[in-house]
Amino acid sequence: MNYKIAVLPGDGIGPEIIDQAVKVLKVVGKVYNHTFKFTEGLVGASAIVKTGDPFPEETFRLCMDSDAVLFGAIGDPRYDNDPKAVVRPEQGLLSMRKKLGLYANIRPIKTFESLIHKSPLRAELVSGADFVVIRELTGGIYFGEPRGRTEDQNKAFDTCTYTREEIRRIVQLGFEYADRRNRKLTVVDKANVLATSRLWRETVQEMVPDHKNIEVDYMFVDNAAMQIIQWPGKFDVIVTENMFGDILSDEASVITGSLGLLPSASVGVHTSVFEPIHGSYPRAAGKDIANPLATVLSAAMLLELSFNLVTEARAIRDAVERSLQAGVVTEDIAEGRAYRTSEVGDWLAKNI
Ligand code: IPM
Ligand code: MG
Repeated sequence: MNYKIAVLPGDGIGPEIIDQAVKVLKVVGKVYNHTFKFTEGLVGASAIVKTGDPFPEETFRLCMDSDAVLFGAIGDPRYDNDPKAVVRPEQGLLSMRKKLGLYANIRPIKTFESLIHKSPLRAELVSGADFVVIRELTGGIYFGEPRGRTEDQNKAFDTCTYTREEIRRIVQLGFEYADRRNRKLTVVDKANVLATSRLWRETVQEMVPDHKNIEVDYMFVDNAAMQIIQWPGKFDVIVTENMFGDILSDEASVITGSLGLLPSASVGVHTSVFEPIHGSYPRAAGKDIANPLATVLSAAMLLELSFNLVTEARAIRDAVERSLQAGVVTEDIAEGRAYRTSEVGDWLAKNI
């Protein structure tokens, strides 16, 4: 089969880690007889520098014309402490989400037994933790209007909005994931305070009778933040709104000790996007030291979710597992010799 993959390396370590994932995909194509056609596009700070726009129209067209998008990272410290910057790399990410209709961000949180000692939590707490955070990605306070300042500049406001339909489609996905896993869905909100959260609860309650095989519980976000570090093993699928999901998914991603290994998928109306959970790690950019595994595993997720190439995805995951066992890993997780980003990619490619 022929597959078109848009490749958006982005900023910081993005290009280096993307190179390894592409390397691995090319070998998978050879071994399993698929033709992957890769086309690169600009996004983030690097797109601002070249076009003035962090998500140029041309990149949008490329994504729309592709069967899947492989994304590196976005963000550049030069913009972070400048509250007056008119255009920011992150806007590229947000407009990509909006324009592609990527209403769901899926982050599987899984422990790798060989890395558990890297977890900030005690091994016995985190061992075996395996859950998925499903974050609503195109609604809520990230996109609600009005937003801005009063004329005298002394007051600022953001608006959190959700429609019943927006809630329904993301919660539906939550039910589907729970159904394929351990049939437990935790809905995280702040229904004791927020009107949008009360609409979430009401909508979920309306859906419960059609999903009788799933155990549903509701948790306030502050309590969820606490329980994720106290009993990470008790969760199966968490579904939540945009900003709560942003915060909780970062919290969840570090408890396993393997931030550099966690992939994610953003899915919705148009082409799906696959990217590592970690950011652009500007300090490591160009040094060939960043961990490429999260991106490589994102490529595996891409094969599985967008192309239904389950065996091929498993081949990638197996190779990653073996690289961990063989100690062919970058400095963030190396016990002995640290390998370079490109060396890890080469090793994986050779071992598929
Ligand atoms: C993420 C990031 C983005 C977000 C930023 C970079 C805009 O933190 O993907 O989680 O807040 O959604
Ligand atoms: Mg985030």
